[in-house]
Amino acid sequence: MKFDGEINKRRTFAIISHPDAGKTTLTEKFLLFGGAIQTAGAVKSNKIRKHATSDFMEIERQRGISVATSVMSFEYRGVLINLLDTPGHKDFAEDTYRTLTAVDSVVLVVDSVKGVEEQTRKLMEVCRMRDTPVIVFINKLDRDGKQPFDLLDEIEKELKIHLHPLSWPINMGKDFKGVYNLYEKSLLLFNPNQKATEDDIVPIKDLNDPILPKLVEEKNANQLKEDVELIEGVYGEFHSEPYLAGKTAPVFFGSAINNFGVKELLDTFIQIAPVPRSRETSARVVDVHEDKFSGFVFKIHANLDPRHRDRIAFLRVCSGRFERNKFYTHVRLEKDVRFSNPYSFLAREKDVIQEAFPGDVVGLFDTGNFKIGDTLTEGEKFYFTGIPTFSPEIFREVINKDPMKTKQLEKGLLQLTDEGVAQLFTQHFGNRKIIGCVGDLQFEVIQYRLLQEYGASVQFNSLPFYKACWITSDNKAKMDEFTRFKTANVVMDKDGHLVYLAQSEWFLNTEISNNPEITFHFSSEIHK
Ligand code: G4P
Repeated sequence: MKFDGEINKRRTFAIISHPDAGKTTLTEKFLLFGGAIQTAGAVKSNKIRKHATSDFMEIERQRGISVATSVMSFEYRGVLINLLDTPGHKDFAEDTYRTLTAVDSVVLVVDSVKGVEEQTRKLMEVCRMRDTPVIVFINKLDRDGKQPFDLLDEIEKELKIHLHPLSWPINMGKDFKGVYNLYEKSLLLFNPNQKATEDDIVPIKDLNDPILPKLVEEKNANQLKEDVELIEGVYGEFHSEPYLAGKTAPVFFGSAINNFGVKELLDTFIQIAPVPRSRETSARVVDVHEDKFSGFVFKIHANLDPRHRDRIAFLRVCSGRFERNKFYTHVRLEKDVRFSNPYSFLAREKDVIQEAFPGDVVGLFDTGNFKIGDTLTEGEKFYFTGIPTFSPEIFREVINKDPMKTKQLEKGLLQLTDEGVAQLFTQHFGNRKIIGCVGDLQFEVIQYRLLQEYGASVQFNSLPFYKACWITSDNKAKMDEFTRFKTANVVMDKDGHLVYLAQSEWFLNTEISNNPEITFHFSSEIHK
C-alpha cells in the first residue's frame, strides 16, 4: 500500500479510431490542455502521409518521431496522464493491439459522418477481450453526419456494447449549436474555428430556463428538451461500475478540430477513468498495490541508426516501484538485469528517471534481450497474460537473394520479428521461412530494413494462405499423423509451437471437423 498516492494519481490510456476519424486531432487537443505542447500541428507530423505508403524516407521519419510520441505524459488538474500513441495506419494494427494491453482504458473516436468502420470494430473486439473500459467520442459534429440516436443504435449493435450518452449535441453541420453536458448539466455553445473557453460554458440547471431558447433558438431548445427527456428515460443515471467493468461506454459528442466538447471529455475522463489496476499473470493476480515491482514489455522500437543495434523496450509498470540501477529478474531468460538509463516520457525531452510507478511506461535500452510480452519481477516467476499474438492475414515466403548474407538475414529476421513487426514461421527444419503480416506495408518495411540494417537482400513470394491457427492436442499420435499428412500447411512459430496455415475458411472448417482431437486456436495466447 506504500505507493497508493502515486497510483491514484495516474491514468494510462490510449485514443483509438479507424484512420481519419480524428485520433491525431483529439490527441493534440488533449496535449494542448495538458500544456505538453504549445502549438497545434505538433502531433500531426507523427502520421504517415496517407498516400505515401511506398515512401521509405517517410517510414523512417515516422519511426523517428514515433519513439518520441509513443507515450505522451502530462499533468492535468493534478492527474498524471499517460497517453499511449497507437499507429494510425491499418497495416500497423498489430502494434495497436499490443499497446492496448498496456493501458487501463481507451477513448474510441467515431466519425459522425461515417459511423462504425472496419478498424473501429476490430479495435473494440480487442478491448472486449480484456474488458477494457471505453469512452466513445463522436467526432466531426460540425459536419452533416448521421443522426445522434441512429449513431448510438449503430454503435451499440455493431460494437456490442451498451452506451450511455453523457453529452448531447444540439443540431449538427452548419446548424451545430453546441453540446449539452448531461453529466454536469451545463451547456457549451459552439463558436466555430475558435478555441472553446470557459466563457462559452453556460451552466443550466433546468432546461426550462428561459435563457435556453435565447441561446440556441426556440426550435433547438425544444428538440434538446425532448431528446434529454428521452435519454434520461432510457438510460437513467450514469453509474461508473458498468463502465469500469467494460460493459457500458459513456458517449461524448464534439468536434476535435474546433476543440469542441474536448474539455468536457477530458474533465469527465479524469473523474471516471480507472486508475492502474491489478493484472492477471500466469501464476496469480498481481495486485497493483503490492510493494514488489513487476512489469512487462509491450513494444520494442529499433534504433534508427543502423550502426547501433540497440533498441528501446517499452515497459509498463504493473506493481511496486521500478528503480534505476536495481537488479530485476528477466523471467524468460532467468537472469538478472538492471538499467542505468531508464527514461520516462514526461516533458518533451527524454529524461533519465530514478523511479516509476504502476501505470507508468519506462523506456529501456535493450541490446536484444527483450521480446514482446517479457516480464520483469523482483524474483518471482510469472508472466503477464493477455498479450496474444493474432493470426496474420498475408503470408509470404522469404527468398534470400544473397547467400553470402544468410547469417545476417537470419539475425535480421529474428530481431525484426522480436520487435513485433511481423511473425516468422519456419518449415522443413527452419530452411523455409515464412513471414506473416497484417498489411502489405510491413513487407516493404521488412525488405527495406533487412537491407539497410543487416545488409541482407530478400524478395518475397506470395503464399496462398489466409489464416494461421496454433494447434494443440492431448493425443500425440493424432498430432503426429496430422503434421505428417499436412506437411505443406504445418509450420512452427518462433517459440517452436505448431501452427496450421489454412488456404481458406472452407479448408480450415474441414480440418476442424475432420480432426476433433486437435484444437485450433486463433491467437498464440494459449501457450502462455
Ligand atoms: P486520424 O488520426 O484518426 O487518422 O485522424 P486525424 O486527426 O488526422 O483527422 C483526419 C481528418 O479529419 C483531418 O483532415 C482532420 O483535420 C479532420 N478532422 C478532425 N476532427 C475534425 C472535426 O471535428 N471536424 C471536421 N470537419 N474535420 C475534422 P485532413 O484533411 O485529412 O487533414 P488536414 O489537412 O486537416 O491535416
